Amino acid sequence: MKHLLKLQDLTQKEILELLNMADQLKFEKKNGIAHHHLTGKTLGMIFQKSSTRTRVSFEVGMYELGGCAMFLSSHDLQIGRGEPVQDTARVLSRFLDGIMIRTFAQKEVEDLAKYGSIPVINGLTDYAHPCQVLADLMTIREIKHSFAGRKLCFVGDGNNMANSLIVGGIKMGMEVSVACPEGYLPDQELCHWAKENGTFTCTPDVLAAAEGADVLYTDVWASMGQEDEAAGRRQVFEGVYQINDRVMAAAKPDAMVLHCLPAHREEEITAKVFEAHAGEIFEEAENRLHAQKAVLVKLLKDS
Ligand code: CP
Ligand code: NVA
Repeated sequence: MKHLLKLQDLTQKEILELLNMADQLKFEKKNGIAHHHLTGKTLGMIFQKSSTRTRVSFEVGMYELGGCAMFLSSHDLQIGRGEPVQDTARVLSRFLDGIMIRTFAQKEVEDLAKYGSIPVINGLTDYAHPCQVLADLMTIREIKHSFAGRKLCFVGDGNNMANSLIVGGIKMGMEVSVACPEGYLPDQELCHWAKENGTFTCTPDVLAAAEGADVLYTDVWASMGQEDEAAGRRQVFEGVYQINDRVMAAAKPDAMVLHCLPAHREEEITAKVFEAHAGEIFEEAENRLHAQKAVLVKLLKDS
């Protein structure tokens, strides 16, 4: 494993190794055991979109691993003024030990890895959010203790979260169902892959998708960069693509609820369901730190 660009690139074994290391790092942190695996290493963090969790967890993670992180806003970088990614990659490779990037096109992340010579981590693109899903898988295993035989249901827009959850869920041997409206489906190549490699369904029917689920997951109707579409999307999603009491009743009685955050209460999830499952949702947010530290150690330690 040289980069973390998308979960398709990882084997089940590699994902499990990261989750095991994340559990270990979480245990060490909770017990005051220092783990300075990355002393002297510097991570550059390029953000072309907003962030609370990703930025803070990567920055704190590097600090706790004995290294440091540098926040690089695209408003300030020359990349924001049109310097090619090929050149940015080659320059940053001479200063840094790793790059985390949050941007729009997946190709930009792949190009950074292609032209640079240091590990690249995808901190969210329009296509994928692998760091989030590693934290999600960690949280599911923490609470449900296993993946096999579990059903993961995603309700909402077939966006970056849906894409990465499909791959992560299927790779770990879970049944995956997604409920998305026509015109807002996940990446079709990934859906095809999921059908070939596991138990996967994609339907516009939320209750059918949620039936017997162990984990219910949702995300915003309009992602970053889709602000202009928000009103149109609301008309499509409103009143249907929401985790509420009816959807909870279709799932297993002990179903857990996850949300990558930020959440829009009374849109994709009711305030009641959100607060009833806040313990799980905020554990999931915390696990971003532990899961990403595992990724950083894996990619940067011997680089
Ligand atoms: N879930 C997530 O990636 O949050 P941020 O956008 O705050 O980083
Ligand atoms: N789908 C959301 C996820 C935010 C973490 C977005 O891309 O804005």
